[in-house]
Amino acid sequence: MRRIGYSPGRVLLHWLSAGVILWALLSGFYVSVVDVLPQTKDWVGFVNVSVTALFIPVFVVRIYLVVIHSCAEDATNKTLMDHVACLMHKFIYTVTSVVLVTGILMMDRAVNIFDLILIPQPLEDPTWIDRFFTVHVWSCVVLLILVALHISAVIKHEMCGRRVLKRMTF
Ligand code: HEM
Ligand code: HEM
Repeated sequence: MRRIGYSPGRVLLHWLSAGVILWALLSGFYVSVVDVLPQTKDWVGFVNVSVTALFIPVFVVRIYLVVIHSCAEDATNKTLMDHVACLMHKFIYTVTSVVLVTGILMMDRAVNIFDLILIPQPLEDPTWIDRFFTVHVWSCVVLLILVALHISAVIKHEMCGRRVLKRMTF
């Protein structure tokens, strides 16, 4: 673990993404598993669709920054742990992309962003909408597991005296 730290742009985007993804995962599963009032479910659905749709361009910028930085990185001095962490981060990006794309494709109504922007429903065929819904839910389950592993790894590194959190600060 030799890298000194992440650029301010990557740090900002990491914490913004972490907030959006953790909120969407936890609140989304909460209202689907726990018996809540229909108004609560509708409110969470409305906020989550709006926030995650707005998050898509932010995520594209994040991927762009990752690609340009990893192109500039020197891979020769990387330890096995660096490679494992790198692979895990790539997996998180891939699964997040699947969650975002299937979220849009499974919409059975227009994508309403805070009652300000309406993006038309992309698909009409209920069979495909159903398929994308299934992929959306399962990719969210995988993402939840990856996030739990990611946070556990950070805690473990910190407890072993490797200051990884410091790298993810300004
Ligand atoms: C970071 C990205 C996202 C995460 C983490 C996420 C997470 C979740 C979770 C955990 C659920 C509950 C699944 C269940 O029913 O068990 C859900 C449902 C849903 N998601 Fe996403 N989602 C994301 C992106 C999107 C996007 C971009 C859209 C569309 C704009 C979307 C639309 C929906 C809708 C409409 C539901 C409710 C389905 C229903 O129960 O009727 N999601 N999402
Ligand atoms: C409280 C929650 C979180 C903490 C404490 C945390 C902490 C960290 C730390 C310390 C790093 C740097 C690791 C290193 O350099 O080896 C990192 C990187 C990373 N984290 Fe998190 N994280 C959290 C939530 C999340 C979430 C929810 C996601 C997305 C699903 C995420 C995705 C990533 C990715 C992809 C990287 C690689 C850095 C990059 O490409 O910009 N993290 N995280």
